[in-house]
Amino acid sequence: MPLAPWRSPLARALHRNRSLAYARYVQLATVRSDGRPANRTIVFRGFRDQTNQLEFIADTRSSKIDQLLLHPWGEVCWYFPKTREQFRLMGKLTIVSADADAEFLKVRQNLWSSLSDASRVQFVWPEPRKPRSADAFEILPPNAAEPLPNFCLLLFDLDQVDHLELRGEPQNRYLYLKNTAADEDWSMQNVNP
Ligand SMILES: Cc1cc2nc3c(=O)[nH]c(=O)nc-3n(C[C@H](O)[C@H](O)[C@H](O)COP(=O)(O)O)c2cc1C
Repeated sequence: MPLAPWRSPLARALHRNRSLAYARYVQLATVRSDGRPANRTIVFRGFRDQTNQLEFIADTRSSKIDQLLLHPWGEVCWYFPKTREQFRLMGKLTIVSADADAEFLKVRQNLWSSLSDASRVQFVWPEPRKPRSADAFEILPPNAAEPLPNFCLLLFDLDQVDHLELRGEPQNRYLYLKNTAADEDWSMQNVNP
């Protein structure tokens, strides 16, 4: 699959901001069942091999999963402080959980194994959003080779990208639109900021 045209400005931003760990933290918005927005910070984990899909991880018990099951749409807002640019990434999220096809299970497995114990142990924690449990957090890290059933991957397929560069007089803004749902045919337009 060819690299989408927004991949090079995004790769450049990631490279130039690589000294900032928090430049890989993004805000992911989803839609609640009542139509209200929901937004939270998550970590960008990279691109799925040979694709333009962004990878994130989540707990299947978290609210974002229920939201995505009803409305698969998401928007990521990503600010890079060093280069002072914003990417707004729009598209559809696919949940890859324990019942996925073999090809996706492999990706899920690899991501699980690449996590730190501190990240993996969160998937043993008691149910999110339930009243705080007194001592249920005293748990050893789970097996690094065996993803827990509530561990899932989110694959983000984009159909629009809005890139704003604050640097420059005046600012620059580029809109990328995917032309068809089927393949990676993108157009790019230089628009007013
Ligand atoms: C810096 C930072 C990184 C985070 N990374 C993730 C992540 O990669 N995946 C995730 O599901 N939640 C992550 N969280 C927690 C989410 O922001 C959120 O609190 C949690 O996922 C529950 O969200 P929900 O109820 O909307 O599903 C992170 C929070 C912070 C502050």
